[in-house]
Amino acid sequence: MKAHSFVYENAQSASEACARKIIELLGQALQSQPRASLAVSGGTTPKLMFAELAKANFDWSNVHLFWVDERMVPPTDSQSNYRLAKENFIDPAHFPSANVHRIHGELPPKEAAKLYGDDIRAFFQLSSGAVPPFDIIHRGIGPDAHTASLFPGEPLIDDRRNLVAAVYVEKFHQWRVTLLPAVLGAARNTLMLAAGDDKAEPLLAVVSGPYDPKRYPAQITTYNGEGVIWFLDKPAARLIG
Ligand code: 6PG
Repeated sequence: MKAHSFVYENAQSASEACARKIIELLGQALQSQPRASLAVSGGTTPKLMFAELAKANFDWSNVHLFWVDERMVPPTDSQSNYRLAKENFIDPAHFPSANVHRIHGELPPKEAAKLYGDDIRAFFQLSSGAVPPFDIIHRGIGPDAHTASLFPGEPLIDDRRNLVAAVYVEKFHQWRVTLLPAVLGAARNTLMLAAGDDKAEPLLAVVSGPYDPKRYPAQITTYNGEGVIWFLDKPAARLIG
């Protein structure tokens, strides 16, 4: 089954649609299970989506919030993915703090990765070697076709076994912690939100280039992916028709 994609006039309407879908999928998940899990990305595009989530009149008490990736900075830093979600979603939505599973960006990267992996394994009560089925994983795509904190050429793109890793991003001279392909691929739903002209070329390569996730990491799970939906604005979608 092909991934679905929807194109909107601008980033605001793409973000609104993505947020609506998140709410709908969480509602569906909670009809058949006591808790639902949502992993969000960072960067800049999700800000509008977080604001929409915050406005939704939704009962968050049974939703658990995780991150796809985090920069190794304190939670108060302007680059922190946690901070972006906290200011635009967690605080205004009064999201229950006990349900927030942040990546500890202030710790040494390997320690933060281990703690986060332990947190995920405990939440999903995973047996050794099992992979967590997040209800929703929200991801973005970078101008170089990276996704999560998996950048082109990153050896961890071949890792199909581990859940979380610390990764050094040469491009930004920065350590990060990221979910790995096994986890991204096990998500029940993957929502890709991308906006802006600089996403058009990587998007074209990701959706219609040869399958080469080492070169185009955003192809991980999205290439013909079942349960994958792209929310795009017109500038990002301009080359894919
Ligand atoms: C991060 C991310 C990253 C992001 C893309 C797209 O921490 O930077 O989680 O993978 O999704 O870089 O970012 P924008 O949406 O800001 O373009």
